[in-house]
Amino acid sequence: MKVVRTISELRAELHGEVGFVPTMGAFHEGHLSLMRKARQISDFTVVSIFVNPLQFGDNEDLSNYPRDEAQDIQLAEEVGVNIVFAPTTEELIGINYTNVHVSQLTELWEGQFRPGHFDGVATIVCKLFNIIGECSAVFGLKDYQQCAVVRQMVKDLNLPVKLILEETVREEDGLALSSRNRYLSKSNRGVVPVLFHTLASARDQILLNRSTMVIEQVLINSRQELIDAGFNVDYFVYVDADTLRPKATHEGNGRILVAASLGGTRLIDNIEV
Ligand code: PAJ
Repeated sequence: MKVVRTISELRAELHGEVGFVPTMGAFHEGHLSLMRKARQISDFTVVSIFVNPLQFGDNEDLSNYPRDEAQDIQLAEEVGVNIVFAPTTEELIGINYTNVHVSQLTELWEGQFRPGHFDGVATIVCKLFNIIGECSAVFGLKDYQQCAVVRQMVKDLNLPVKLILEETVREEDGLALSSRNRYLSKSNRGVVPVLFHTLASARDQILLNRSTMVIEQVLINSRQELIDAGFNVDYFVYVDADTLRPKATHEGNGRILVAASLGGTRLIDNIEV
């Protein structure tokens, strides 16, 4: 496995059918599962590690974001990745006057609570896709809205990228793996699986009876359950799986999306309905 830091070095290495996994490092099993998938479906696996300043708000955790490049490189090597692309901020962004803005989808949910976040994601992912060119890119459904935004961008900008979306990897108790989980105190770590259990229970109830009234009541009760457990709930919503707009009927595919903080650690999760 090679580690490259510049765009020209990366381009010189690329060959064959490329499978690409963009990341911000601090690897856990969720990241590794995407890399294994990329290996399976391609013959040359590229992983980028770049803590993207464009997607962090002023009051967010850019400077505290976990970084452990040496361990990440070792883990990527063990999975059989061919190239780790770990550019400096100067190399990848420099002074950037171009912003990629996907409209509509980004006005909802995470977009409301993290203004500008998805512009930062779309801009950097677009740059990475342009650097790499034709490829299959693997993303995690853990960040469901991010998947939707990237899919819209790929379609609208005719990028030569095939998106592969992979299931969320969870702890045994249901907690979705996330680099932010390390910030949970011991007692909050005990409480936090409630987030997934509430999602799963809401899904089960909606599947039993998808009337508008039931859906509304389930969402109210779920939110309350989380509040009672000590969470600060940003949103707990049942949405159309494609448009991410609130959904009150049973037709088509649905998804429940949640964002909530516990003891200052903000977590997001979602489940298919
Ligand atoms: P990061 O948070 O490092 O996540 C990299 C990829 O891992 C994303 O596709 C994310 O959805 C996926 N992932 C995270 N936790 C997961 C889990 N528990 N199971 C499965 N996949 C999981 O997402 C980003 O970085 C950035 O926004 C990025 C796309 C790299 C742009 O900067």
